[in-house]
Amino acid sequence: MKRLLFVDDESNILDGIRRMLHADRNRWDMQFALGGEAALRACEAGRFDVVISDMRMPGMDGATLLGHIRDRYPSTARLILSGYAEVKLATRAVAVAYRVLSKPCNGPELQATIERVCTLQDIFCTPEIRLIIGTIGELPSLSKTYEALARAVLGPAVSMADVTDIIEQDVAMSAKVLQIVNSGFFGLAQRVTSLQSAVAFLGMDMIQNLALASDTFKIFIPDPRIPKTFCETMQQSSRRVALIARTLPLDKTVCDVTVMAALLHDVGKLVLASKMPDEFCAALSLMQESGCGQVEAEEQLLGISHAEIGAYLLGLWGINSLVVEAIAHHHRPTRIPHSGFDISAALYVAHLLAHELDVHSSDPQGKELSEYDLARLETLGVLQQFPAFRERALERLNEDANSCTQEIGNNSLR
Ligand SMILES: [Fe+2]
Ligand SMILES: [Fe+2]
Repeated sequence: MKRLLFVDDESNILDGIRRMLHADRNRWDMQFALGGEAALRACEAGRFDVVISDMRMPGMDGATLLGHIRDRYPSTARLILSGYAEVKLATRAVAVAYRVLSKPCNGPELQATIERVCTLQDIFCTPEIRLIIGTIGELPSLSKTYEALARAVLGPAVSMADVTDIIEQDVAMSAKVLQIVNSGFFGLAQRVTSLQSAVAFLGMDMIQNLALASDTFKIFIPDPRIPKTFCETMQQSSRRVALIARTLPLDKTVCDVTVMAALLHDVGKLVLASKMPDEFCAALSLMQESGCGQVEAEEQLLGISHAEIGAYLLGLWGINSLVVEAIAHHHRPTRIPHSGFDISAALYVAHLLAHELDVHSSDPQGKELSEYDLARLETLGVLQQFPAFRERALERLNEDANSCTQEIGNNSLR
């Protein structure tokens, strides 16, 4: 049973939460603490899986409390409840909380968030993932990006958009830029989730240094058995998922984060290909022999797939938890509850469209929607809109193919 600790300085609010989650008492062991000091005492007495704290409290506020909890009990997930007017406080909370929920929070939203946090926690606690992570150092990156950036930065009229475009093509570099911009080094209170604002923030020189550094630390040594085109194909196809994600009817913030998640979604494949080539090749052989998909092959051989591996690493790097979550579930979206057409759902749909339109080539299956896919789209509530999504995605892909053809002559997308 998951152990949850709710913290607020007002006992009537805690009573309200207790009543709201009454039906969950058999699956969650819920404790309630009146204020930060009491919460820390409760944590000393027994470990909690999730702590959900109010932000504004006299004495120790929510961000300070969660900061202590992060330092002392790093595996405890941290959520914060914050009022709409407390924007300044909320930005502090973002640095220490896994998720910031607006107050007042309704029952279903709170339940769904806790459930999602617990699901991710369970995935990341499996012995399989621990074993794999133990053998992995840093994400590999490719020097092609450095060359392209260096050329661009030396050019006479380089723009931020040009630099963003180059980095977007490199999955590991995209992750690296976001990791660095969000690291303690820059002291940002709010997480930067879009590559564009990361580039704007870091500046071109810093980006170039970053590319150089990641080149220096280049650890991606392609195994001779892994097809030479693997990395390039993977990056191109991730970029196409991101292009498709941009065409979905999403709020700008949701769209930016989904695009980021799309660019990075298969980062676990890069990790496997560079750090565990034997297992990676075995999965490829299994796919060929049995006709199964890559995820099924990986799960059969490793107990988990590139989805969880990639998500875990991005989580360690402090990448936005919504990106981490969407990536962890990009092949299995229905294992978490969804709040409408959210980031996880959008990534799944963009990915499915890319497979269906045959612009995401890694998986021999998935060119046609299966009964299973249709059922999942139904569960996500987007089955009716799917044909319209497909039309817009196709349009965008064609535009992109045309602009690429114009720019680089005969180097076409397919
Ligand atoms: Fe994948
Ligand atoms: Fe993929």
